[in-house]
Amino acid sequence: MIEIQKLIKQADNKLILRGVDLSITKGETVAILGPNGAGKSTLLKVLANLIKPTSGQVKINGMDLKKEHLKIKKIVGYLPHSSLLYDHFSPLENLVFFGNVYGINNVETSAIELVKEVGLSFFLNEPVKNFSRGMIQRIAIARAIIHEPEVLLLDEPHTGLDQGAIAILNNVILTMKEKGTTTLMVTHDFKQAAEICDRIIIVKNGKIVDDFKIKDRDLNFVSEKYQLLTEGVS
Ligand SMILES: Nc1ncnc2c1ncn2[C@@H]1O[C@H](COP(=O)(O)OP(=O)(O)OP(=O)(O)O)[C@@H](O)[C@H]1O
Ligand SMILES: [Mg+2]
Repeated sequence: MIEIQKLIKQADNKLILRGVDLSITKGETVAILGPNGAGKSTLLKVLANLIKPTSGQVKINGMDLKKEHLKIKKIVGYLPHSSLLYDHFSPLENLVFFGNVYGINNVETSAIELVKEVGLSFFLNEPVKNFSRGMIQRIAIARAIIHEPEVLLLDEPHTGLDQGAIAILNNVILTMKEKGTTTLMVTHDFKQAAEICDRIIIVKNGKIVDDFKIKDRDLNFVSEKYQLLTEGVS
């Protein structure tokens, strides 16, 4: 569950987020769409506690981000633009390292299982520096969920993935949803948004300009709404 009230983020005298109000219930899968520079990644960074908001309130699973950020970090999984992996470490070493950071049990078994889930068992012990972009993204996804987070924040997760990996990622998101995970996903991929999300939010110039539920994976409905709100007008 995520609750955001009057969130403002200013940097270098520039207003990046201009009063965001948003409420996401437990188990919801929500996509954030919007043009480049709209403030989508900034919103995710605030929720992941990477940057501090200028003002406003954020609660995750009922906990105040300002007061209980250490507890919140344990239940949040974050996939940023960059992979956060250690280049000279293998997938297994990376996942064991991050699993230990979160203090999870049976870390090696979970790491091996996850590498298998993202289809890279054959490369379990190869340093990730030799991996292709899509392979790195697969391991980065595994890293983001090693501690079975209750809230998942994904910044353009489908970027660089082939069709097989897209299916794996979507399956991961849907399986986690069944366990009650709340997912907030920034994407430029309307098709994937329509395919796996319950709800779409459109951000423009640091504000939410639309917020609607989607039914029947209606891609056309999403595209039409987006074009209406983002084209022509600035
Ligand atoms: N630390 C910062 N200092 C100053 N300006 C920043 C900072 N971080 C982001 N910005 C600006 O805030 C705006 C929003 O950036 P953000 O990365 O959130 O956009 P985005 O919606 O994720 O875009 P994209 O689709 O290109 O990833 C941009 O104009 C960016 O230049
Ligand atoms: Mg971004």
